[in-house]
Amino acid sequence: MDKLEDLRAELLSAVESASDTDTLDKVRVAALGKKGQITDLMKGLGGMDADARRAAGAALNALKDAVAEAIDTRKQALEADALNARLAHERIDVTLPVRPETAGTLHPISQTIDEVVAIFGQMGFTLAEGPDVEDDFHNFTALNFPPGHPARDMHDTFFLNEREDGTRHLLRTHTSPVQIRTMKTTEPPIRVICLGRTYRCDSDMTHTPMFHQIEGLVIDKATHMGHLKGVLKEFVEAYFEVDSVPMRFRPSFFPFTEPSAEVDIGCSRKGGELKIGEGDDWLEILGCGMVHPNVLKSCGYDPQVYQGFAFGMGLERIAMLKYGIPDLRTFFESDLRWLRHYGFASLDVPTVTGGLTR
Ligand code: DAH
Repeated sequence: MDKLEDLRAELLSAVESASDTDTLDKVRVAALGKKGQITDLMKGLGGMDADARRAAGAALNALKDAVAEAIDTRKQALEADALNARLAHERIDVTLPVRPETAGTLHPISQTIDEVVAIFGQMGFTLAEGPDVEDDFHNFTALNFPPGHPARDMHDTFFLNEREDGTRHLLRTHTSPVQIRTMKTTEPPIRVICLGRTYRCDSDMTHTPMFHQIEGLVIDKATHMGHLKGVLKEFVEAYFEVDSVPMRFRPSFFPFTEPSAEVDIGCSRKGGELKIGEGDDWLEILGCGMVHPNVLKSCGYDPQVYQGFAFGMGLERIAMLKYGIPDLRTFFESDLRWLRHYGFASLDVPTVTGGLTR
């Protein structure tokens, strides 16, 4: 019996002093495994007479249970310690600022879209969408393009193959068809912008076959050119992040607006450096006007009741002006050096109040 007591003390102390689960498992195997000390003693029970076997068996079982329980308790304690140590080691301080060297950057066009959306979103505009593959009606006819207008010409427009009914779809040449789609599906008042890809068969320093535009449309019962001017001034100053930008509305022509204007903003080009908002030079940035009565009619609106304004702008152009990017074609070359140089941190979301660019 003393022998069992000694063994018990020895095993329990070995369990207690095991400092990790591997050591503990070795203790378990040495005591309770196939060739373990307790197992060995149990094997000896067979050679005893009945009474002695009963007494020794009960004592051995009690020892076995006690050791097994001690091992279990110790195992749980060790596992909890290991987990706590790991949690302490792997702790992340979520209040730390993001590492600036995160791989990958936002393309200047994505950044410009985010900025433009933030500005017009704050003015109460919502986003409208339309397909890149358009039909002649939405891209031209409903926008009051007369038959034979040069923009319908093969040289400008990418046409798709002729369909069975003889019509041809096309890649939209501007975002203006979204005006038509929005007016046909929305009850006025309307205040939307649309941003997206546009396509023209043209390629040189200042033209790429695919480029991006932003379109704006406001329709209500008492909308006038003063509103148009106010919205564009607000936009230009917010976008270029300057307090005041001189603007000039030059008479122009677009089939879908009457009157139509092109807008120039004040700039200086001193020393080869372009500065928006200062100096006595002008830079054209967009087209706009009051929505033509024919366009309103083609969408089922009564021009005696509803008027509105529209504007359209090239996103690459305003991105080039703001970020000093000299060549349009580089936008689409996917040159990693260019992307790293002109790209934006992907986690800095532009807001009007927090800053468009940081
Ligand atoms: N759709 C014109 C273009 O691609 C841009 C434009 C001019 C849009 C005047 C407008 C507008 O909404 O009013 O050249």
